[in-house]
Amino acid sequence: MKTRNFVNTGRAVSEIGLGCWQLGADWGHVSDNEALSILETAVDHGVTFFDTADVYGAGRSETLIAKFLRGRQEDVFVATKIGRQNYPGPYTTDTMRQHIHDCRRRLGVDALDLVQLHCIPKGVMASGEVFDYLRTFKQEGLIKNFGASVESIDEALMILEQPGLTSLQIIFNIFRQKPIHSLFDKAMAQNVGIIVRLPLASGLLAGKFTRETKFAKDDHRNYNADGNAFNVGETFAGLPLAKGAELAELIKAFVPEGMTMAQFSQRWILDHDAVSTVITGASQPSQVLANTAVSELPRLSKETHRQLAAIYESSIQEHIRGLV
Ligand SMILES: NC(=O)c1ccc[n+]([C@@H]2O[C@H](COP(=O)([O-])OP(=O)(O)OC[C@H]3O[C@@H](n4cnc5c(N)ncnc54)[C@H](OP(=O)(O)O)[C@@H]3O)[C@@H](O)[C@H]2O)c1
Repeated sequence: MKTRNFVNTGRAVSEIGLGCWQLGADWGHVSDNEALSILETAVDHGVTFFDTADVYGAGRSETLIAKFLRGRQEDVFVATKIGRQNYPGPYTTDTMRQHIHDCRRRLGVDALDLVQLHCIPKGVMASGEVFDYLRTFKQEGLIKNFGASVESIDEALMILEQPGLTSLQIIFNIFRQKPIHSLFDKAMAQNVGIIVRLPLASGLLAGKFTRETKFAKDDHRNYNADGNAFNVGETFAGLPLAKGAELAELIKAFVPEGMTMAQFSQRWILDHDAVSTVITGASQPSQVLANTAVSELPRLSKETHRQLAAIYESSIQEHIRGLV
């Protein structure tokens, strides 16, 4: 597994990380044993970056990560998030401090590696006070770094110059190419890391769904397919399932021999140097195994990148719903 310097943190992290939403809730049933086995497979194959949040299964994801890491030697960078428990606010220093204490307790650490604002309202970020609070928490030693998970490029650009900001977590995949030209150069110039979520557009870019695919009742790909619970962009990257499945078929034609479509989709992301780590989610250890192997795959050709950019412009971007 190759690593990338995680900007100003002084740490290198695996370029393929692990998204741990699946270990909390909202993806059908993943048992505790399956969750622990997913974490174990990841670490055994070089993953040193986990992404979680206080709200994933109301603390279950964080608790399982702590259980897994207890007594192990591996140096895993654990990024968590706050800000959805009390969405859409108030975002006071007291509520944020309380949520940070809860994360420290569940994760069993004195200082959190990275706290990310969890897609909080744009206006709250614009006022800037939340970042003052985060800088204070850092000075107090409660957190080592802070960043923000955002929905849109406008939000990312708005907070890019916040002093001390370590990272932005964004949606970036073959269906969501906007960051390439609107964000990456600026983030690199500002020395802000990019954490990529939804690399597979909730599984669509593994090429395994059709318009007929059904999801469990407690799976967001069922109850949030049209954005009824939270931003529609967080499910299938904002595409309606039928259109997403159709577009995935189009992309399939570009997958070279020797890799699966899920691997191809992640390789496409890693080919962008602004990316610090890709936090692919997994509901089975075998998926983690396939995903970690992407780091060793060769870069895709310039021609493949050119053709996928052209397809994005001509056939994909117009179908994306939600904030981009
Ligand atoms: N607002 C936020 O900050 C926010 C929002 C969303 C996600 N996130 C974070 O980002 C992480 C990644 O995003 P995501 O999980 O939503 O989407 P994703 O990584 O694009 O999709 C994950 C799903 O893709 C499928 N998959 C993974 N590897 C596969 C493989 N090798 N072959 C076939 N299928 C594969 C699995 O689907 P099945 O389970 O159906 O097999 C898995 O559950 C999350 O876990 C979470 O940590 C943050």
